[in-house]
Amino acid sequence: MRKQIAAANWKMNLTYQQGEELLDAILKENIELKEHQQAVFAVPFPYLIMAQTRLGNKKNYAAAAQNCSDQPAGAYTGEVSAEMLRSINIRYCVLGHSERREYFSEHNQSLAAKTQRCLERGITPIFCCGEPLSIREVDAQESFVEAQLKESLFHFSPEDISKIVIAYEPIWAIGTGKTASAQQAQEMHACIRGLLKAKYGQVADSIPILYGGSVKAGNAVELFSCPDVDGGLVGGASLVAADFLTIMRALK
Ligand code: PGA
Repeated sequence: MRKQIAAANWKMNLTYQQGEELLDAILKENIELKEHQQAVFAVPFPYLIMAQTRLGNKKNYAAAAQNCSDQPAGAYTGEVSAEMLRSINIRYCVLGHSERREYFSEHNQSLAAKTQRCLERGITPIFCCGEPLSIREVDAQESFVEAQLKESLFHFSPEDISKIVIAYEPIWAIGTGKTASAQQAQEMHACIRGLLKAKYGQVADSIPILYGGSVKAGNAVELFSCPDVDGGLVGGASLVAADFLTIMRALK
């Protein structure tokens, strides 16, 4: 079975102590994940080692970075490289979240470079794509997301592409409480898988495609039960232990 992933995206929330408490509350429940299931916690950089230490020996639990540099190393004050992440054993990195695209001018080309850096270091990119409301309103979401994928990812080899996780996050659903319906999510996930299939063939069947945008304890089962939805990238609801535990339990 394709990997199913519940990924928490803490964004720029929680103090260090609150982060510790949240992780402890989640780990205390001791949810045993199946072989194909994974819980990933994308925490702020200064919390990575703490999260890594806490999750360390728990099977199928992993810490993730929320971003990395598109440069390998050097005079880039304030940046964190994929090599640095790898040196503390981080195996996942969220890339191209819409907030980074919007507020930090990330674009498809720089995201291609970031993806490359992660792949070089054996870090799985969780590559975010998704359309704004203005695009959805004119029903152009498929071509919009296609351009994002083509410009950032479609030059990679099938072997590299098989190591990527995709997160479809319609921007109009992020942090708004306005979730895409299960049908809207499935339609876009099927479209993304179709694009991957057209370009890469069978390997498309093994690539997890997560849904993000107001995933909650109350809608996770319905969303995750869609055939092409392989879990979620969860913001707000990942900050509440009970909610994220419910979302983890909703994985196929
Ligand atoms: P949300 O955020 O769950 O708060 O909508 C999702 C995300 O931005 O990844």
